[in-house]
Order: sequence, then structure tokens, then C-alpha cells
Amino acid sequence: MAEGKTGTTKVLMEETRIFEPPKDLAENCNAWQWGKKKGFKTEKEMRAWCGEHYLEFWDEMAKTYADWFKPYDKVMDDSGMPYFKWFTGGKINVFYNSVERHIKAGKGAKVAYHFIPEPTDQAEKAYTYQEIYETVNKLANGLKGLGVVKGDRVSIYMPMVPETAMAMLACAKIGAIHSLVFSGFSSKGFGDRVDDCQAKVVFTSDGFYRRGKPLPLKPQADEAIKEIGSVKNVIVLKRTGLEVPWNQGKDIWFHELIKDQSAECKTEELDAEDRLFILYTSGTTGKPKGIEHAHGGYCVSPPQTLHWVFDLKEGDVWWCTADVGWITGHSYVVYAPLSLGATSIMYEGSPDFPDFGRWYKIIQDHKVSVFYTAPTAVRMLMKQGEEWPEKYDLSSIRLLGSVGEPLNPEAYMWYRKNFAYDKAPIMDTWWQTETGCYVISPLPMTPCKPGSVAYPLPGFNTTIFDEDGNEVPLGEGGNIVNPTPWPSMLRAFYKDEVRYKKEYWEMYWNTKPGTYLAGDKATRDKDGYWFVQGRIDDVLSVAGHRIANAEVESSLVAHAAVSEAAVIGKPDEVKGEAIVAFVILKKGVSPSDDLAKELKTHVRTTMGPLAIPAGVFFVDDVPKTRSGKIMRRVIKAKALGNPTGDTSALANPEAVDGIPLI
Ligand code: WTA
Repeated sequence: MAEGKTGTTKVLMEETRIFEPPKDLAENCNAWQWGKKKGFKTEKEMRAWCGEHYLEFWDEMAKTYADWFKPYDKVMDDSGMPYFKWFTGGKINVFYNSVERHIKAGKGAKVAYHFIPEPTDQAEKAYTYQEIYETVNKLANGLKGLGVVKGDRVSIYMPMVPETAMAMLACAKIGAIHSLVFSGFSSKGFGDRVDDCQAKVVFTSDGFYRRGKPLPLKPQADEAIKEIGSVKNVIVLKRTGLEVPWNQGKDIWFHELIKDQSAECKTEELDAEDRLFILYTSGTTGKPKGIEHAHGGYCVSPPQTLHWVFDLKEGDVWWCTADVGWITGHSYVVYAPLSLGATSIMYEGSPDFPDFGRWYKIIQDHKVSVFYTAPTAVRMLMKQGEEWPEKYDLSSIRLLGSVGEPLNPEAYMWYRKNFAYDKAPIMDTWWQTETGCYVISPLPMTPCKPGSVAYPLPGFNTTIFDEDGNEVPLGEGGNIVNPTPWPSMLRAFYKDEVRYKKEYWEMYWNTKPGTYLAGDKATRDKDGYWFVQGRIDDVLSVAGHRIANAEVESSLVAHAAVSEAAVIGKPDEVKGEAIVAFVILKKGVSPSDDLAKELKTHVRTTMGPLAIPAGVFFVDDVPKTRSGKIMRRVIKAKALGNPTGDTSALANPEAVDGIPLI
């Protein structure tokens, strides 16, 4: 890519391969069934109409995909922009839509989740909608008994097990707001998030399994909340049987809490705008941002996009490999598939346990028909070679999907060939914690180009702006923006109005008010195919997970030996980016391999294993602007052996020479 005018980029390499979808699939997919009924002649025409008439479109989708206790008065209210409201006046609950309505329709016996424990000597278990309904009701009654009421926050620090989904649903049912923190986060990472949202109750487990070993979780939860006064109770799931420290009067076993509860519980009839959850994601500063989502929107665009993009049909077996702790798990492991009444796979562990055949075996055993994962996982499996998939029968797969970072063409081709014998198209879906649902993606009828996320989905007017708010022509790139709102959009940052406005809405407020700035750059080729290039801000993408450079830096600086740190991302074959830290030590501290190791361990303890730097380099200084901002762009260029460009803004240009090649 080359720099164009006002921060735009030009497309230099063109992808010429194009894969037509199987005719049958294209003709009969859910999206085109709707399109044909509406009288559209082409996909392009359908996408264009839905963008132009986006309110009419979402109105129809809200009536098609969600059941309302009371119909809404208005589809969208932008009077408080950038605080958009959807389906105002409507009463709804995502639990009713995800579970209860299926029971009412007599579909309680259908399997919602096939749960597959990581240890191969433990039995798999199928959870029907009926079973989930009853357990969630009991749990909701239990939460009420603990004094949890509508609007209270409940933090969930749990592994990838069905009880985690049930904890979310129980909160939703009574109008409490859940806030999941990925169980791989450190104790401190969890504590900061519990403290920020002032949770009343915490869910955790005694532990979880990873690569065959039971690992503790409750001790980290205890450590995290020991000084947080808002937390009144800790609900502990028994998963591993590991012994746990116990706080009498505060801790309660999950199974004890639900034991004597009634299996009936009234679902709260909530306002469409009532909050469903807060999910923290990394921003440009060290402090994570609490993205808020609402019930109404979540009942509409996640199920609708899943239905259209992945074409779920009655007999499908859906497997989204994301952990429930991330947005992909929230939308596409929990709310969307349940809302569609689908059957999903939920697998507890890692893809390489007991060997690299595990995922393929699960696909074969359960006849998974639609499979959705992240590029980092595809690349990891690709590294292990074709002999693993060759051992299994993967002929049940009819559609594949990808999310989290660009799926590079090499991995794309390998994924197509080895997961589906080149028969199944790949839906490469671009979206974010903030969007709640897919925004740019092929449909099953779309001819696909490797590495491309195709076009904005129906109902979105997503486009690319230069820095002045002009749409960039095809063949050029710039900032991904949404000039119009959508139902499952973020509603706010928890208690941080200033940052909410600044990070997403300020950029184009004077030129195109109400335009959402996604924080990613993309280009479109001459045919209009979108290629996502990555973040515009200082956020790393490690194995598809967002980690703020500033957060890793502040973790390093918290170590007694460190005076300053600069963190950059180095391209990595498997993870997308690997974290590399340049560290300035305090006076009198000498660099050593042991210290580098210690710093890695320190980051692991304070932030969790995802954030561990792959490399730690000791330097005397790092380049900075006159206002003291670390110039990560310059450090990165020097460290990777690229031209450093204009360094005239630096206060200490000589520091560039001290940055080693990595
Ligand atoms: C990146 C994950 C390229 C992007 C759902 C975005 C992608 C960030 C894709 C959001 C994709 C997501 N191709 N990049 N298909 N999907 N991204 O909030 O940078 O964890 O802004 O949500 O991941 O990450 P988040």
C-alpha cells in the first residue's frame, strides 16, 4: 500500500481470483429468499436498496426476527445524537427471544448446545432448550434471592461452558447487566473491570481445563475483588473439583444456589433501550472502555445477520469457536444462535488437545455444517499440515467463516481446501465489539475474493472516508465509517461520555454529524470489494484480540525496574501481530536475560497470557514528540528495517538510532 493524499491509501496489489458460490446455495440461501420475494434482480440491487431504506429494512427485520411484549412506536430516534435509540416504546427481553419463545412453540426438546469437555475421558453433554430454560429460571430466582435487581451489574469470569451462557441469560431475564471478562485475563484485569462497573455479584468457577490440566480460577477472582466493596456475593461453578478457598457468607456454589429454586420465573418486560451488557474492549489509552449494548437491538441484528450470512437452516449444526468472553461469543455463541433456535457446538478447550486433530474430529463426530473461526486458528492448523484434516471426514461442512483480523489469501486457500474440499464459500465477516453484529461480509450468494470481506451488508451504509469526510473512490482506501446507525450498535461507554464522543463521533462531527468512525482502515478494489487493512489507532491485534499498546506499556512501567516502555506489534505468521517491548530501565538497574524473562512474567500476571511480549529489548531512550508522546510508528519502522519517514517532529531524533532491528 502507498500513502495517498490526506491519509488515504492506494490499492497496489490486486486480487484476481474469484470464487463463485455453489448454485444451489446461492439460489436457496435465506438472504436471497428474502431478496427474491422483494423482487430484487441482483444482490447488488438488494444491498443498495437496503442501505438507502435502512429504517424500513430494520423495521421489517425487527418484526421478523424478534417477538415484542409491546410493539415499538418509533424505529429509530436520533434526537440525542450520538446517543441513538432504537425501537423506542417497545418492550422486549432477549431471554424471551433466545429461549422462552421456543419452549412456548413446543421446541423445548431441541438441542441448543452440544457441550464438549476438553478432557477426552469426560462425557459430552447435550443441553436442550428446555433444560436451559429451567436452569436459567432457577438461576434467575437465585439471583433475585441475593438481592440482584434490574440495572445491577453482574461480572462473569467463567470458562467456556454452558453455565456461562446460562449466567448471561439469567441476568438478561431479570434485567441485570452482565459484564463478562475472558477467563484468560489476569486477576488484575478482571478486578479493574469489576471495579469500573461496580458489580454486585460475581460468577466464577473453581477452575477450567487447558491442555488436559485442571487450572484454578477462583483464587484469581478472589484476589481481584478483595478490596471491591460493591461485590456482595460470588457464585462458584464446580467444574474441575479443584479445592477452592472459601469466604463464608459471601461465596455460594452454583449448584447450591439453584437447588431448591422454582423452575418458573417471570421474565422482565424491558424497554428496548434497557442495557443488556457491558463488554470491555481496548482503546488507545491504557484504560479499557466499557461498551454498552441494549436488549432491543440485540434481539434483531445478531440473529438476522447470522441467518443471512451463515444461512442457518433447521438441520444445521453451527460451530463458532470463539470464547463467550469476547463479543463473538456474546453475539454468535449465545444470543444469535439461540434466538434462531439453532443447535451449536460448545467446546471447552484448545484445538491441539490431545492432538491437532481435535477440531476436525468434533466436526466429523457432530456433522458440523457451518464452521466459524479466526484466522490465527486457521494459520496455526495450517502450520501443522494437511495430514491432520486428511484423517477425518469433513464432508458435512457447507459454509465456512472467519473473523477477527484479515484472513490472508494463503490461509484462505488452505482453509477452503482443507476444511471443505474447496466446496464451501468462506464468509469473512468484518465487525467489532461496538457493532454487535456483522457489518461487512459476503452472503452465501456472493462471489468471493480471497482476503476480501466483500461488501457492507444490507441495512448498512458503511463506506470509506478520507480525513475530510469525503468518500474515497474505488481503488483507494481510508477510514471505515458508518454514516447511518444500526440496531445492535454500541449505546455508550460505561460512565465515560467524553471518550465515547471523542473516539467514535468527533472525527466527522463538523462535516457529517452522526458518522461512526470504526477505527480501521480499508481499501476497495475497482470492483468494489473491501479489503480491511487494520487499526488506525494504537491497538494491537494479537490472535484476533484487541490489546492496547498503552495498556502493555503501563503494565511494564508498573514493574520496579522499568522507567519507560514502548510497545509495538511485529507481524507474526500465526498470531497476526506479536507484541514487542522496548524498555528503558531505571538508573542502576542492569539489563539481563533474566530481567527480560521476569518482565514477561510480570505482564502475564498483570494482564494475562495474551499480552505477554514475544520480545523485550532494553534501550537507553525511545523517540518522542515534543509533547512527550512516544512515536510508536517510528520505532516500529526502525525495528522492522523500514524507512522511518519524517522524524522532524521528534524531540530526540537520536533515539531512533538506538532502536535495534528485531
Ligand atoms: C478486526 C471482533 C479484518 C478489526 C468481532 C476490528 C477484522 C477489530 C475482521 C474488532 C475481519 C474484525 N477482517 N479485520 N473480518 N473482523 N477485525 O472488537 O480491526 O474484538 O476493528 O471484535 O478486529 O475486534 P473486536
